[in-house]
Amino acid sequence: MTAPAEAAAEGALPEFPMRRACPFSPPATYTELRENEPVSRAQLKVNGKPTWLVTRHDLYKKVLGDARVSANLKLPGYPLQVPVPDEILQSVPLTFLSMDPPDHTVQRRMLAPEFSVRRMRELRARVQQLVDEQIDEMLAKGCDSPVDLVTALALPVPSLVICELLGVPYEDHARFEQWAWAIMNHEVSDEDRGMAHYELDRYVDGLVTAKESEPGDDMISRLIAFNRETPAVEHSDIASMSKLMLVTGHETTANMIALGVLALLEHPDQLAAVREEPELMPGAVEELLRLFSISDAGTARVAMEDIELGDVTIRAGDGILPLNNAANHDEQVFPDADRLDVRREARSHVAFGYGVHQCVGQNLARMELDVVYSTLLRRVPTLRLATPADELRFKDDAIVWGLYELPVTW
Ligand code: HEM
Repeated sequence: MTAPAEAAAEGALPEFPMRRACPFSPPATYTELRENEPVSRAQLKVNGKPTWLVTRHDLYKKVLGDARVSANLKLPGYPLQVPVPDEILQSVPLTFLSMDPPDHTVQRRMLAPEFSVRRMRELRARVQQLVDEQIDEMLAKGCDSPVDLVTALALPVPSLVICELLGVPYEDHARFEQWAWAIMNHEVSDEDRGMAHYELDRYVDGLVTAKESEPGDDMISRLIAFNRETPAVEHSDIASMSKLMLVTGHETTANMIALGVLALLEHPDQLAAVREEPELMPGAVEELLRLFSISDAGTARVAMEDIELGDVTIRAGDGILPLNNAANHDEQVFPDADRLDVRREARSHVAFGYGVHQCVGQNLARMELDVVYSTLLRRVPTLRLATPADELRFKDDAIVWGLYELPVTW
């Protein structure tokens, strides 16, 4: 077999990322790869470097459950999907998303209780209130002209919620949403991305410093207090944990809100099912997460030793991209996988990743999606698209997939 570096030099490898031709299905190549070569090589569009793609559900879980893979993006071979000059890469502090155990375990343990099922149950009434307020505002404006559901509901709800949880002033949302966007977009210049990191780091550092002297009733203050009693990390770690949650806590869920509403409006039989039987909604949320798999390549890794996976040997130092949009459309696990079926048993999807880094905010995301979809469908029964679905702008240029706008009327 040709080594990945040689094949890349020959220009024989498919380029990654690949575009989705239909919003409800993965790129067509994923199906071919999963069936014929479930661990295959590709070349990163951003820098031409070779990487492995993993497209089968069982192999996705196997590789992400393997302690011989690292999430450390500073290691040579790690498949970065946005261009970061090496001197900047080596100088920025790692967030725990990019740490391996045991360092990762320390920070993850500090945070996990904040997102427990019980905590989310307690928070649900407040999320319901925020969602109702956003919908009141949207309805008050009227529908003489189309309303963009992304700016009216999908983005403000998770942004408001993560601000309240962390203790970040919502008045600053335009700034941090812009920085987060620049950090996650393939097509932003290196300089602008570097600047966004710098500004966001400064902003979050200032917040943590302020809460060290004047704590509030919020997650950042609790992390600081916990760390005073049981010192485990530094001030800079609390700042980087806060930054990570601020970024991951709004954009992902916002994209799922808009895409989920689009999917339900485009599948009237499924929409009717969740309207008639509201108890189907938690399952519908899982199914929508599976169908869209918005953080498709969000679980990049690098092999620290040689690893046998499927029929191939991944060499130490090789980059690996387990693709959850491929795994979540594996027909062996989800028959008729490209079809939206709100009655499907979809819980074994891997839209939140797998293994030690599996999304720490998943209970929050699930609860927010359930409240938003249920409330919107109940309160705006005549909701419909104001622009044909094939004219919508999708986020093909970003690490996390979504919609730029969703014009609706009612
Ligand atoms: C990790 C997806 C919502 C915080 C992850 C990972 C995925 C993911 C795939 C695994 C990354 C890896 O293995 O390298 C999603 C999706 C969401 C969502 C699809 C919404 C629909 C949230 C929310 C938060 C959050 C609301 C709130 C704070 C995090 C954090 C990690 C993470 C902190 C890193 C966990 C670790 O490294 O241990 N997410 N996420 N996510 N997510 Fe989410």
